[in-house]
Amino acid sequence: MLPGKRPFLMTGPLSRLRQLALRIPFVRPLGHRLLAVVSADRRVVAHLRVSAADQLLQPWPTTSEDRYPRLFDAVALRLRDRAAPRILSFGCASGEEVRALRARMPEAAILGLDLNPRALAKARAADPSPRSEYRLASAPRPEERFDAIFAMAVFRHGALKRDRPESCAAIMPFSRFEAALCRLDAALEEGGLLAMGNAHFRLSDTGLADRYAVELRSPGQEPASALLYGPDDRRLDGVRESAVLFRKLPEAG
Ligand SMILES: C[S@@+](CC[C@H](N)C(=O)[O-])C[C@H]1O[C@@H](n2cnc3c(N)ncnc32)[C@H](O)[C@@H]1O
Repeated sequence: MLPGKRPFLMTGPLSRLRQLALRIPFVRPLGHRLLAVVSADRRVVAHLRVSAADQLLQPWPTTSEDRYPRLFDAVALRLRDRAAPRILSFGCASGEEVRALRARMPEAAILGLDLNPRALAKARAADPSPRSEYRLASAPRPEERFDAIFAMAVFRHGALKRDRPESCAAIMPFSRFEAALCRLDAALEEGGLLAMGNAHFRLSDTGLADRYAVELRSPGQEPASALLYGPDDRRLDGVRESAVLFRKLPEAG
């Protein structure tokens, strides 16, 4: 939209009519349903909710350019001695995270994984680098290993944020988070970095807690996770999580 212009439905009598219509009980849900039908993005998410119900974490591919600059800087700094670090962006959506990392690590081999084919198509179209790869999958291949894995804004859900239910079980159970995290852990080298934030769950509540040390707490503008759920799926009131970057420790013994 041009600066200073307002969408025509938002002005004058039509705007008032719209406000009145929205007060009629069935109008708002009906409008949402109609939007779901006409909007391709919503259609893909609606399809994923059914076809990938057991695996889907945050369903919405919401992201932004250079979303976590200090975190990206911190990882690039720690990987500066590697000629071509291998990086996984889990839940890469339309690829903004991959491109932000590419800008900092031009030689890195970066794999973006997502379940949303439409978001992946946008990511591919916006990234000319031959060292970037985008794949429709919910886990890396068994033989793949990475020096750093990003799982930002994936272990969360818009419906949890909106409704803050006492239990997350019906929307995204803790077990789904932990299973996905274990698959990422299997692909991370010892000494590798795991960036996990903007989430409703804590690594420290999982069976992997002893294998990781906190490397960095929420740096600057990246907010601490404020709505958290524990291993019993219950909401953890009055608790925040600021740890956002972890290092995988060598196996004991
Ligand atoms: C909010 S976006 C996160 C984008 C980016 N990582 C960021 O922090 O800005 C969440 C993405 O995770 C994807 N996603 C959800 N569950 C997934 C799964 N099991 N495997 C791969 N991607 C998944 C969604 O399709 C969506 O594009």
